[in-house]
Parts: sequence; C-alpha cells; structure tokens
Amino acid sequence: MTQDEAKRMAARRALEFVEDGMVLGLGSGTTSAIFIQELGERVKQGLKVRGIATSAASHELAKSLSISLTTFEEVSELDLAIDGADEVGPGLALIKGGGGALLREKIVESVARRFIVVADSSKLVATLGRFPLPVEVVQMALPIVTRKLEALNLNPKLRHHPDGSLYVTDEGNVLLDCVCGAIPDPAKTAADIRAIVGVVEHGLFLKMASLALIAGEDGVREVLP
Ligand code: A5P
Repeated sequence: MTQDEAKRMAARRALEFVEDGMVLGLGSGTTSAIFIQELGERVKQGLKVRGIATSAASHELAKSLSISLTTFEEVSELDLAIDGADEVGPGLALIKGGGGALLREKIVESVARRFIVVADSSKLVATLGRFPLPVEVVQMALPIVTRKLEALNLNPKLRHHPDGSLYVTDEGNVLLDCVCGAIPDPAKTAADIRAIVGVVEHGLFLKMASLALIAGEDGVREVLP
C-alpha cells in the first residue's frame, strides 16, 4: 500500500463520523485535502454540512467543491474537526504545522467537540520530536524569540520556501522549526515555548485529539488518547 492510499483510507473512515447538519473543522495538509475532496462528493449527493477551514488553501478547496463555509461570527463551537498530523505520540499528543497552518488549526480544533486525526501509520511515534516542531512568531520579535529558543536547546531554524524566499503564514507571521530531537516532556516544552513573548503559537497539540484513525497495511486502526 502506498502512503497516499493509506491517507485515503483514513480520510474515508473519517467520513463515517460526519452527520447531516454538522459544523465541521476542515484541516490542512495532504490527508485533510483528501478528506475535503471526499466530503465534497458527499455534499454533491445531498449531505448538508458547514465548515470552517484551517488554512486559505483548505478554504479555497472546500469552496471549489461547493462545501458551505461559515465563520466564528456565526458559530462558537464545531461538532467535529478532522485534520492530519505530522506526528502522533502517546496520549494522542501531536506535532502539527508541517504545512504551516498550525495557528488556525489550533484555533479551530480548540472549539471542536470532537477532533479526529487522520494519518497513515508512518506518523505514529513512541516519542515526539523526530519531526521539527514549528513555532509561529511575530516577525519583529524573531531575533529575540530565536535566541530564547536556542537557550532552551530547541535548535530553531527559520522556515523558507524551496525557492529560498521567507515562509510567511496565512496570518503574516514567520515559522521557526525546532530541530530539537526527542521531546520527553511535551507539556513542559509547550509551557516553555508559550512563555516567550513574541511566540504566537506552537505545533504541540496536547490533550486536544479525541481519536486518531491510523491507516496501514492492516487497515484503519482507531487509537484513543
Ligand atoms: C498543516 O499545518 C499540518 O499540521 C498538517 O496537518 C500536517 O502537516 C499533516 O499533513 P499531511 O497530511 O500532508 O501529512
């Protein structure tokens, strides 16, 4: 099975949790894009849902598939959010933000009654940290935040696009990817990063996911926190 096939299996399983009339959080990244495409098919067949997207890219994709979109002016809570992850650790602690959308993802998923992670089995890890941990930073604070993350031995690297231009998030901030290796105590690392003024958000999603649908050779496994 290819990684793409596994992503599709997880995304399809997630559709089984979607009910008519739900307000959904729509994730970002390749697995979420497959979910949104599959959701679009269901909408064509008559399913009625509204969504709030976690990135401009997912918003545009949902719009192109005629999935109704709403805003936090209209809703305060979501029934269900579906999103991918870069790493899924014990207790469903996640690293997210590889696609740069961690801020909106965390906002959307923080108000979802249920947050389901969709991923292929390569994302499951015993300890978080092999994947660089993204930290979103206000641009003018970049030098001081960089020094403070270095002092925490988190080894921050400023994110650029492949063409060398600076990566700027949907909210106009920049990203420091912390190539820090194993994160034995994610709650402490999250608190240390959050204490730095100038940090907007970080990619540790702790105690947020209610279920992970992990697809691999043996089918889709349901993993609970
Ligand atoms: C986007 O910012 C990320 O948090 C994605 O959810 C994460 O990178 C997973 O993406 P893939 O589904 O493309 O692996």
